Amino acid sequence: MNILFKPLKMGDMLLPNRICMAALTRQRCDINDLIPNDLMVKYYTLRAEAGFMLTECVPISERSLAFPGQPGIYTKEQTLGWKKVVDSVHAKGGRIIAQVWHSGRACHSSFQNGLQVWAPSAITPRSKVRRSQFFHEVPHEMTIDDIKLVIQQFKQAAINCKEAGFDGVQLHCGTGYLIDQFLRDSANKRNDEYGGSIQNRSKFCLEVIDEIIKIYGNGRVGVKISPVARVNDMCDSDPLSLFSYLIKEFDARQLAFIELRDDNDIANYSNYGYPGSKEQIPDLFQAFKPLFKGVLIGNMGYTPETAIKNIEENRFDAVTFGKLFISNPDLVTRIQKNYELNYKWDESTFYTKGEKGYLDYPLYEEVQQ
Ligand SMILES: Cc1cc2nc3c(=O)[nH]c(=O)nc-3n(C[C@H](O)[C@H](O)[C@H](O)COP(=O)(O)O)c2cc1C
Repeated sequence: MNILFKPLKMGDMLLPNRICMAALTRQRCDINDLIPNDLMVKYYTLRAEAGFMLTECVPISERSLAFPGQPGIYTKEQTLGWKKVVDSVHAKGGRIIAQVWHSGRACHSSFQNGLQVWAPSAITPRSKVRRSQFFHEVPHEMTIDDIKLVIQQFKQAAINCKEAGFDGVQLHCGTGYLIDQFLRDSANKRNDEYGGSIQNRSKFCLEVIDEIIKIYGNGRVGVKISPVARVNDMCDSDPLSLFSYLIKEFDARQLAFIELRDDNDIANYSNYGYPGSKEQIPDLFQAFKPLFKGVLIGNMGYTPETAIKNIEENRFDAVTFGKLFISNPDLVTRIQKNYELNYKWDESTFYTKGEKGYLDYPLYEEVQQ
């Protein structure tokens, strides 16, 4: 049997296959209310045969918004909108996990109704705000009260996720957003208990995790990390020690899963003077797999063939596909039946409005008829 179809116990969940869907921001909501809509119900339901699906990143407050038209989970109406998505996925026999997220400094005030962006330290990313014309602004350095407020907002988001019926929650701790900004020392220069040592920089992340566990139980909570990603002007002086510590803490909490994004950024990324990823950690899976007893998920640039090889070699247990799930709504069926995959995803419609590039990728069996 193809190992991608070997069922997998992931915390309290049982996955029928190991072909999972990565979080994919698609910005299909009305930009004023950010309520999940019927387009989204159709889009997720079409992909319900995945081992499990992650939602696009879901902001937990107005100040965590970064992409116009992304669905929130901080109002009653948004929660009810998500419930429609979740109910429909469940009716098709699928599993769906919410990716809760805060943009921190990786945003612009104009996407947050004029609110100043927050970060662990008042350090302005040298990159442009992603998917926009704006240069970054100087962020407000969060006070202890601000930190406590955001932890509570994550907790409330988990409560709302539960109300919507999600099977679990993934905390987005990667790619230069708020949690990652606390973790890595290029963005966190604090002198208090949330900055300095690896333990202190990990404190915010672990406090948020502990609140989410209180709502969902550890068997339904996971994280996404990207230890060597450079996106959003991120770097750490010693990512191997930082993430070894953090993963051991995740293991101690018996989290259901870690999704490990294996970036391969070239040396001196964008001339910022950072070391290349592979210089810092040559093999992420070799470094981190022994530290975690839960399910380790590989992500970034995999094909079914490379995923099978990695799982067979016990480098990780399951895979998340991103772009392949955009252009192949029936990805699981295609892999199972050895149908050709569509590698032609249309980047120009990743973040646009309406059905184009969202609901019009054909199912293989439809095309053949
Ligand atoms: C259109 C698009 C939107 C994305 N949105 C998110 C997101 O909301 N949250 C997240 O963690 N990653 C996001 N990513 C990154 C993917 O989850 C994944 O890490 C990346 O695409 C690499 O996997 P792939 O090579 O299989 O596509 C996005 C990627 C794409 C292409």
